[in-house]
Amino acid sequence: MERRLGPVVGLGTWNTFGGNAGRAREVVVAALAAGIRSFDSSPMYGGAEASLAGALEGRRDQARVLTKVWSNDPAEARRQLDAQLRWYGRVEVEQIHNLVAWQEHLPWLEDERDAGRIGRLGVTHYLPDAFDELAQALRTKRFDTVQLPLNPRERACERVLLPLAEELGIAVIVMRPLGEGALLRRPPSAPELQPLAAFGVTTWPQALLKWALSDPRVDLVIPATSKPERAAENAAAGEPPWFGSEERALVERLAG
Ligand SMILES: NC(=O)c1ccc[n+]([C@@H]2O[C@H](COP(=O)([O-])OP(=O)(O)OC[C@H]3O[C@@H](n4cnc5c(N)ncnc54)[C@H](OP(=O)(O)O)[C@@H]3O)[C@@H](O)[C@H]2O)c1
Repeated sequence: MERRLGPVVGLGTWNTFGGNAGRAREVVVAALAAGIRSFDSSPMYGGAEASLAGALEGRRDQARVLTKVWSNDPAEARRQLDAQLRWYGRVEVEQIHNLVAWQEHLPWLEDERDAGRIGRLGVTHYLPDAFDELAQALRTKRFDTVQLPLNPRERACERVLLPLAEELGIAVIVMRPLGEGALLRRPPSAPELQPLAAFGVTTWPQALLKWALSDPRVDLVIPATSKPERAAENAAAGEPPWFGSEERALVERLAG
């Protein structure tokens, strides 16, 4: 199996889709039209999985679904997968959310992958305090993907996890590429962003997304948005040319 998932921009669904099926449909339709193919969800995201499923009705073949199991109880986690299979038919990337009971879930999820109901198997965490355990999980060589936070103000994964993922051939999925929106509060001015125009970057969110994707160890960034036009804006950051060290350093300075 080809290791890489990208480099591309996907779409997260935490805090933006919830139970709002109409909004989810508008955002997903705009995202697909802009070339976004990867959609990340979880049973933890309050109805987002069902909203995503509704939004993909009639369009499922265009999408790659990344979702998660999130329970200490294997029976409950299996029910979560069963619901996902009803919604999506197949799950392209099934992740163990926040490392919850990962040792217990790994064997039966591997069986599901072998049976073809899951494409790839992944694991996620958002806290640097959990990165040692995340590394331990990756060292089992039983995961195909890892999801972690990376943006100019959250770089803890660069120390161990990114080199390890590269060494083991594990695809990297970046959550929180916009710092949950916190990095967008005081955007740089147009003249400050001007040196990035040659890279197809005209807005600050695009600069942050391309910053992460320009690390060759990163496969996929999954910014979330509740606004269709922003999905299209974000998608544009997934095209080469990629930033070199100078442009990455500029984005880091602008992020403060
Ligand atoms: N945060 C976590 O701890 C965590 C954990 C596990 C997985 N994830 C996954 O990673 C995904 C991404 O992380 P995240 O949602 O926490 O944060 P994020 O993608 O870094 O930021 C999302 C915020 O950015 C805003 N935004 C997005 N595009 C924008 C644009 N072009 N212009 C202006 N504002 C824009 C959105 O607001 P609007 O809706 O107003 O556009 C939203 O509030 C999640 O949705 C989830 O799938 C996250």
